[in-house]
Amino acid sequence: MDQGDQNWWRHGVFYQIYPRSFQDTNADGVGDLAGIIERLPYLRELGIDAIWLSPIFPSPMADFGYDISDYTDIDPLFGTMEDFDALIAAVHDSGLKLILDLVPNHTSDQHPWFIESRSSRDNRKRGWYIWRDGKPEGGPPNNWLSEFGGSGWEHDETTGQYYYHAFLTQQPDLNWRNPQVREAIYDVMRFWLRKGVDGFRVDVIWHLIKDAKFRDNPPNPHYVEGRPPHEAILTQYSTDQPEVHEVIAEMRRVIDGFDSCVLIGEIYLPLHRLVAYYGNDLAGAQMPFNFALLSTLWSAHSIEKIVADYERTLPAGAWPNWVLGNHDRPRVASRVGPEQARVAAMLLLTLRGTPTLYYGDEIGMRQAMISPDQVRDPFEKNVPGIGVGRDGCRTPMQWSARPHAGFSMAKPWLPLAHDFARENVINLDAVRDSILNFYKALIAIRKKLPQLVTGAYQPVAAQGDILLYRREGEGGAVVIALNLGAEPASIASSSIGFGREILLSTMLDRQGEQVQGTLDLRGNEGVILGTPAHAG
Ligand code: NOJ
Repeated sequence: MDQGDQNWWRHGVFYQIYPRSFQDTNADGVGDLAGIIERLPYLRELGIDAIWLSPIFPSPMADFGYDISDYTDIDPLFGTMEDFDALIAAVHDSGLKLILDLVPNHTSDQHPWFIESRSSRDNRKRGWYIWRDGKPEGGPPNNWLSEFGGSGWEHDETTGQYYYHAFLTQQPDLNWRNPQVREAIYDVMRFWLRKGVDGFRVDVIWHLIKDAKFRDNPPNPHYVEGRPPHEAILTQYSTDQPEVHEVIAEMRRVIDGFDSCVLIGEIYLPLHRLVAYYGNDLAGAQMPFNFALLSTLWSAHSIEKIVADYERTLPAGAWPNWVLGNHDRPRVASRVGPEQARVAAMLLLTLRGTPTLYYGDEIGMRQAMISPDQVRDPFEKNVPGIGVGRDGCRTPMQWSARPHAGFSMAKPWLPLAHDFARENVINLDAVRDSILNFYKALIAIRKKLPQLVTGAYQPVAAQGDILLYRREGEGGAVVIALNLGAEPASIASSSIGFGREILLSTMLDRQGEQVQGTLDLRGNEGVILGTPAHAG
């Protein structure tokens, strides 16, 4: 990729690495930065353009790095600052970009800022966090809940007040109404941007500002018994406040002070609220993550509707993006079923907008079984037994059939998926039509056909299990037909219009086939169709 290209984040394919689980080089069972450097040739061959790393900063690891105790250093578990400098140099030498995770909503309770803040009511950092008196009759200041179970307020003996934590008690929320907090975090951003990072994925960006009056949240009338307890109360006053957009515009200005950098926001909100995060005049996040595909019913009709709604709701000039998996959600191959995993990939990489892949999805990694004694995730520990655990999507990358899957010389921090001896990079690389080789072909065709990147999205009415759309722009039109069902399905080639040559099938065995009267798809098959010129 051209390093100076202002549009790189629009055109590129992003790949999320969960560093703990990618590659261990010092035999402690946890992945590290040197391991990522070692695996750069693999990522280059896969064809991705940008790497986003989940947090690598010093942390007591109560939430595996999303509880940061020092924003401008590297946790020894992952390596040193020298390792980081080597990583960024190597990533750039490989023609790739590097995105860091910024976690500004909360710190660790071990962060020096919080240690100071909790030391006394008149400490100069008291106002950096959210301290409130309890109710006169006793109990927490209001009914806000922690996403990881229980009240969102923790009573602090030393000063007799409560602090707010949207997640663990070990993750106190910063007070983003305080200008000093803002400046401190902007300085953190500048620190890493000066080192050459190409942008940030901002953790729970829609949480940053809370209601100034701390009003009680209303109950959720649609709460379903058995769902995580925090869902019983809506987050009307604790998240998504109008003033958050000022903060994001400020972050964006920091980003814009550096050449060609990107601000990505983690936001779980309904579509009409999500698009506000592009900001007025697009001065907000360039990519508010679009998680619609993580929770949709996997049918042609629902997906067509989601894409249409999204395309229609995007503000003028806003660039779309799509995500199929991350470190918080069950693996796509388990969610949609292994048979549909390739169809899901073809969807992700042919919709209009930047795709973000999750490590291991390219080898079809599934949600691993985690027995109760193997649980590491604090969410599962606090709210056990209802399926919220995130360990199953965070298991070590399966590189080979060697002990510990070539991930480590030591016992990994999480168990390996039981099928690693078969489902691993070395094996799948050697099988011509494996999912891994399919991913490589898919990413390669996206690079070859500009209309898959910048072309307009034009739906062609979904028919039964077949999702059909065109991407048209520079280079002409290509057509994507995805069979979301397990049964064979056909469509008249007249509904495809132009483009009768199969450029790529999810099964990797039909390239060059000319489609005559009908396009016949096997169960769980997707194809990209174009003209012979596209194939050349
Ligand atoms: C969202 C992150 O993706 C998740 O892993 C983390 O637990 C919470 N934010 C809290 O930081």
